[in-house]
Amino acid sequence: MTDTTLETRRLVFADLPNVIAIERRAFPTPWSLAMFVLELSKPEGICLAAQRDGQLVGYIICSRFDQVWHIMNVSVDPDLQRRGIATTLIEAVIARVGGEAQITLEVRPTNVGAIALYKKFGFLAAGSRPRYYQDNGEDAVIMWRTQATLRGELDDVPAAKARPVAAP
Ligand SMILES: CC(C)(COP(=O)(O)OP(=O)(O)OC[C@H]1O[C@@H](n2cnc3c(N)ncnc32)[C@H](O)[C@@H]1OP(=O)(O)O)[C@@H](O)C(=O)NCCC(=O)NCCS
Repeated sequence: MTDTTLETRRLVFADLPNVIAIERRAFPTPWSLAMFVLELSKPEGICLAAQRDGQLVGYIICSRFDQVWHIMNVSVDPDLQRRGIATTLIEAVIARVGGEAQITLEVRPTNVGAIALYKKFGFLAAGSRPRYYQDNGEDAVIMWRTQATLRGELDDVPAAKARPVAAP
């Protein structure tokens, strides 16, 4: 069920203690504080907080590389998942970058929940990065959301044809 009292706003440095608290519970290999500081320092980045009743409940970190947006991190308080919070955050990013923008991300092939979420937004798997995750040597699935992936095709995905397409 979507949470109607949820608000999104810009993520700021003062949020980082709460971000780190969620990050450490949400990921087996959490980002360090320095990684968040670096991303928040990028003038072109889009970093958003989801908050409910004044409490930070999730966040999304998005960087721009040339014309492509890269979702670097999205995370929701483990006690509040499956309530539409990540959906609201991704919708807010798409509203800011524009529906026609190219967006990419990496995800673990075992992260079936995240992959299902991204597919709902029209992301398609378009390659893999071998041994991308240092903790267990897992490959990353590269996913893209472009005008073509919204049609179920990969025509306009950079380098998609050069890489093997991963399973999901
Ligand atoms: C992945 C994550 C961000 C999803 O956040 P969320 O707020 O729970 O997602 P939503 O409630 O918006 O889910 C929207 C849809 O995504 C899919 N989905 C999300 N989590 C899922 C799960 N665990 N299993 C299966 N499908 C899932 C479902 O289709 C869901 O719709 P539904 O609830 O109506 O079935 C959250 O599980 C999380 O923080 N995980 C740990 C960090 C992480 O893995 N981040 C992604 C790294 S690439």
